[in-house]
Amino acid sequence: MEEPLSLRVLIPREEIAARVAAMGRQISADYAGKELLLVVVLRGAAVFAADLCRHLTTQTVLDFISVSSYGSATSTSGVVRFLKDLEESVEGRHVLIVEDIVDTGLTLNYLLENLRTRKPASLVSCTLLDKPSRRRVDIQPDYLGFTIDDLFVVGYGLDFDQYYRNLPDICVQR
Ligand code: IMP
Repeated sequence: MEEPLSLRVLIPREEIAARVAAMGRQISADYAGKELLLVVVLRGAAVFAADLCRHLTTQTVLDFISVSSYGSATSTSGVVRFLKDLEESVEGRHVLIVEDIVDTGLTLNYLLENLRTRKPASLVSCTLLDKPSRRRVDIQPDYLGFTIDDLFVVGYGLDFDQYYRNLPDICVQR
């Protein structure tokens, strides 16, 4: 058991809930009458995706993918490793990648390139958080919850060394 970090709330749960609901309404309107395949990027996006998908009114299928660009450190290695692939076929489907945070952009860029080769009908991305100041590849999420400064955040699915994913608010170190 590690010494707990001293944390303060950056984005409170009520603000997250309101923004996630609004994103869900927007996505539902954009995909009205279409079937969506949500590609949830484990493990960080699991909490966000669980809330977001319950605001979608279009026919939706959930699948999960896992890649790793981080060890236990808080800075990226630049290396993306594939840990778990999708079970669904992507070909001919409307695919929405659900990410927790876009930081350097390497992970999202890798996923977009990889899934594009599988011939989806359409392919877009949705992220709860964006840290544009740290970008290493020129990439913008299609749907975005909040833009934040260059801070390391935890909670609402985001971890530090696998801890704090269960916090209901998005927090930063004091
Ligand atoms: P990227 O490839 O640098 O864009 O990093 C994306 C991944 O790094 C995210 O899906 C997170 O898992 C992790 N990450 C980046 N910034 C943070 C943070 O502030 N807190 C927790 N995880 C982060």
